[in-house]
Amino acid sequence: MGQLTPSQFISFVAAAVLLIDPINLITENYNKFKQGETSIDRVQALLNLPPHPEPKHAQPLPQIRGEVEFRQVSFAYQPQQPVLQDLSFQVRAGETVALIGPSGVGKSTLAHLLLRLYQPAAGQILIDGMDLQFVTRQSLYQQIGIVSQHTHLFSGTICQNIAYGHVDFDLAQVQKAAEVANASDFIQQLPQGLHTYLGEQGTTLSGGQRQRIAIARAVFHNPRILILDEATSALDTESEALVQTALENLMCDGQRPTCDHRTVILIAHRLTTVLNADRIFVVEQGHIVESGTHQQLIANGTSRYASLYAQQLV
Ligand SMILES: Nc1ncnc2c1ncn2[C@@H]1O[C@H](COP(=O)(O)OP(=O)(O)O)[C@@H](O)[C@H]1O
Ligand SMILES: [Mg+2]
Repeated sequence: MGQLTPSQFISFVAAAVLLIDPINLITENYNKFKQGETSIDRVQALLNLPPHPEPKHAQPLPQIRGEVEFRQVSFAYQPQQPVLQDLSFQVRAGETVALIGPSGVGKSTLAHLLLRLYQPAAGQILIDGMDLQFVTRQSLYQQIGIVSQHTHLFSGTICQNIAYGHVDFDLAQVQKAAEVANASDFIQQLPQGLHTYLGEQGTTLSGGQRQRIAIARAVFHNPRILILDEATSALDTESEALVQTALENLMCDGQRPTCDHRTVILIAHRLTTVLNADRIFVVEQGHIVESGTHQQLIANGTSRYASLYAQQLV
């Protein structure tokens, strides 16, 4: 395993922080990273992920359009306990696809496979037709982002948290990202604004505020493919509304009203948030059992979707 240059390393950790929000270890170990741990293996170990060396012939992913394909993908964490089985689907560039289904069916696993945190046991995952097995990690992480239920901020200023991974950045860009993420009002009210220090001895933010910082980070990094994994599920109703608007802004890759959408994979716990998706996939027992628009799925009164929808209405 080769060593990374400092700038590669920073981007890697930035990507890790940006992408691997659910994993607490990255924040706990941030200081170790700062102290110069430069091996990707070490990062993998800290993240508690299986070792997954970069293949020698890995190619950087060029600037992507954002097509995603799972081709007969199977995956299990434990032998004999399949999570995904022979799962196939395609997402067009710029499309918003919602994944719904009961807890534990493998929705987050699917997202983590797309981030190449794990390797499929069988099948392929492709972005713009390129098999992820053969692309460099860094080029993948620069173009794909995730906002999940668990936000991890590290000790540092708000500005550093948003621009993390970029050394030379324009403060106005950070400010803009905060605005898009519905975060600039509360940031302005803090004693040092964007330079307010967060962390053990610093300012404490509410769950909804933290989530909006995470969204600002994603806006700043501007990924072509965005995964939202139950990003509002841990919030009260008031913060949920603010975060929801911020997420809608984030999904838009550009300025309203001419919204050029990123490719979005939306994993949602509330059906109301998926109504506007271009397509909805219902995941059950490791398979996609239904797909279509809300209208199409609801028109079939006996669909799994129709019954899930009915359950949420009562
Ligand atoms: N890191 C892990 N190690 C072992 N099993 C896991 C891990 N993460 C998830 N699982 C299991 O895999 C299955 C799918 O989990 P997950 O993808 O989180 O489902 P969902 O997001 O749909 O709720 C569940 O049975 C879960 O317990
Ligand atoms: Mg999940």
